[in-house]
Amino acid sequence: MSLISSLERARALDRLAGPAQRAARLLPPGRVRDALHGVWLGHPLHPVLAQVPMGTWLSASLLDAWPGTVPGAAAASRRLVLAGLAAAVPAALAGSADWSELHEQQMRVGVVHALANTAAIALYAASAAAPARAARGLRLAGLTAASAGGMLGGHLAFRQSAGANQAEPVPHLTEPGWHCLMAAAELAGLAAGQPVRRTLGDVPVVVVRDEQGVYVLAGRCSHLSGPLAEGDYRDGCLTCPWHGSTFRVSDGTVARGPATAPQPVFRTRITDGTLQACLPGAG
Ligand code: FES
Repeated sequence: MSLISSLERARALDRLAGPAQRAARLLPPGRVRDALHGVWLGHPLHPVLAQVPMGTWLSASLLDAWPGTVPGAAAASRRLVLAGLAAAVPAALAGSADWSELHEQQMRVGVVHALANTAAIALYAASAAAPARAARGLRLAGLTAASAGGMLGGHLAFRQSAGANQAEPVPHLTEPGWHCLMAAAELAGLAAGQPVRRTLGDVPVVVVRDEQGVYVLAGRCSHLSGPLAEGDYRDGCLTCPWHGSTFRVSDGTVARGPATAPQPVFRTRITDGTLQACLPGAG
């Protein structure tokens, strides 16, 4: 694990990450990019798609493990490899879209993850055209590379929290019930559409008001914890300053990725001259 962790600090990888990020960002923000992020799914799409090549390639290697015992195993292995290669394309596109909106330490690990997976794709592609004995060896090498790529992907997801919902702890850190946020007079003095930061205990929140009402959301973006109070408010949506995730302030749903998880939204009321907020499900 320390070897993988050292990749996070390997600045030499930035030479690859920079051009690759520019290439990945050639696909502009919009519907296609959001589809690749998994906004429609409410969950990153890449890990879902990546299971297909891993599953088909592992199945091919299981057939290879007992040559001659299963009729038609060589042809079946080849078909599984080809299915995995086809599935690797959308998986790679979704992964590159996610990767291009990460912190630099995550991007360094992501570069090696992508290199390992590219090696796996090359080895499996070569195996599809190779004679039977050589093909088995190439598939085993491909599985080794894909497994290394998968381990790095796990490190990215679980150790470095790439793709995780960063707002998930908010209900657990917020005390149940109503909390005072600011005096009603101070709220009335806020410019419409100007987000401001407040805290509820240890939990930062963002307050914004417009002609329709006042809205309070968790202050750290569900994508990578960007400060929403420094974002832009327009047409009922708040946009994160870091990577452009956009949330509807009325219900916290994602209007634009890369975030896929909604932003927690507090109920509000004005009582005894103060703006109060309450998070449903808190505690
Ligand atoms: S932190 Fe990435 S969009 Fe908010």
